[in-house]
Amino acid sequence: MVIIASSNGDVGIDAAWAILEQGGTALDAVEAAARLVEDNPEDHTVGYGGYPNLLGEVELDASIMDGTTLRAGAIGALRGYRHPITVARKVMEELPHVFLVGEGAARFAAELGMPREELLTDVAANVWREGLNGKLPEHFRDRSGQLIKSMLRQATHIATDPERAAGTVNFIAQDQKGRIASAVSTSGWAWKYPGRLGDTPVIGAGNYADDRFGAAACTGWGELAIRASTARSVVLYLQIGYTLEAACQTAFADLLAFVSDPAQTIMSMVALARHGNHYTISTAPERTYIYRADGMDTFATLPRVFVEPSRLTASSQTA
Ligand code: GLY
Repeated sequence: MVIIASSNGDVGIDAAWAILEQGGTALDAVEAAARLVEDNPEDHTVGYGGYPNLLGEVELDASIMDGTTLRAGAIGALRGYRHPITVARKVMEELPHVFLVGEGAARFAAELGMPREELLTDVAANVWREGLNGKLPEHFRDRSGQLIKSMLRQATHIATDPERAAGTVNFIAQDQKGRIASAVSTSGWAWKYPGRLGDTPVIGAGNYADDRFGAAACTGWGELAIRASTARSVVLYLQIGYTLEAACQTAFADLLAFVSDPAQTIMSMVALARHGNHYTISTAPERTYIYRADGMDTFATLPRVFVEPSRLTASSQTA
């Protein structure tokens, strides 16, 4: 058994481990863990308490993938429900679809009987107001001080903060039967344009799992992982025989090849190969991740491999 997660998964990893220890599935473990992060009001990058879009609305994205069957479920721009990961799992299990967004996603959550609630906490609302006040010139506001809605497309270039695009939670688990599952959840890029989706709910971009080879999940600037199909790339590189390290490094090199300013680019990834070995990588220094495997009494917080974006090159190193 093994579980690997982004560091903000510390509130969920013990619950996931308990499920694995009791013989539960990797799928149940990653969902349970992600739900606990979605519940955490201190985490402003995931679930309840997440930072909102430009209009002050919290919009949540999540996806889950079952590496045994390659079934997946995803939810984008969900408003009013704190557990997009569970809605995503229900899409996977109850609908003939993979991906629901916006009003359809909210309709489905309501149909499932989930409670509707305000997800914007006072703390997150204050940061949002201060952030907009600090960054947007006066002419973006009307007389009452509200952001002029026809100016959102200009505002999104000025107000969004790439630092805050980096927050997301990743969980990848392998259970006693060797089954792999992955779950990713986020409130996305703070002060994003309403309806913006990142890589988190895009299967193949921010999340991919396949028992036969391994799994990968991303945090960071989702637009890049969408363009490079990063999580799926890692698994595909494993499939053609790369080592896990080479697969991750090459997927990052693919992604950074088209970035105009690599120094400003923050991307991180956790990955697991089918034999249970793992690898983590980040373009930002001093980033950590958490990990637990058989024989460990508790989870460990460990440093990620830091890569200077300019030093990454595609690799053909194989196992
Ligand atoms: N990686 C999360 C996002 O871009 O929304």
